[in-house]
Amino acid sequence: MKIGASFLKSKNIPNDLEKLNETDVDFIHVDVADGKFVKNKTLPYKEMKYIYRYTSKRLDVHLMVDNPSAYIPLYAELNTEFITFHVETLEDIEKNLKLIKEYSIKCGLAINPDTKISELIPYLPFLDMILVMSVTPGFGGQEFMENTENRVNELKELLDSYNIKAWICVDGGINDKVIDKCRNASMVVAGSYITNSDNFQEKISSLR
Ligand code: DX5
Ligand code: ZN
Repeated sequence: MKIGASFLKSKNIPNDLEKLNETDVDFIHVDVADGKFVKNKTLPYKEMKYIYRYTSKRLDVHLMVDNPSAYIPLYAELNTEFITFHVETLEDIEKNLKLIKEYSIKCGLAINPDTKISELIPYLPFLDMILVMSVTPGFGGQEFMENTENRVNELKELLDSYNIKAWICVDGGINDKVIDKCRNASMVVAGSYITNSDNFQEKISSLR
């Protein structure tokens, strides 16, 4: 199981990123919220771009924004492995997936808890990852939604039926109590479970 660490709830981002750098976490999950697609608003890119000062880990960028096309070229400049935006956005999805690919970056689609898994079907052949939200997006520290397990299993069956190898990732409310509900996923993203603790590595190891 791969682990991405989200610093959305961090009280000291540089410090927590440096601490995460000392762990074996696989990716730094960068939550980008515009205050429109979701109620929360994260740091503007002109501040976020200095993230390279504090981490040498590859970035997994999660765009919770109305207009991904404005953000993709910016986050493509960083040490980015994945850029994911939401299937619920109103922009042309295929065009934005192609835009990510133009930068030789892996592309993903995120799906909200109340959106039907079948909405993803037209885009499956283009995707490197699907980010299944296990909370309503916007804020860290929320409770894992129980129906996520069924949604992950439904998606896994769908991918297998099309013989598609995209990663399934689960994002939100992850801790050692719910991790067994995510065993069909390739990666989980954990935020407050890691950053609220004094021993980041212990928490990360408990999820593998
Ligand atoms: C939710 C974000 C998640 C979140 C994870 O809007 O997309 O990445 O920060 O944090 P925890 O693990 O605290 O739910
Ligand atoms: Zn996220």
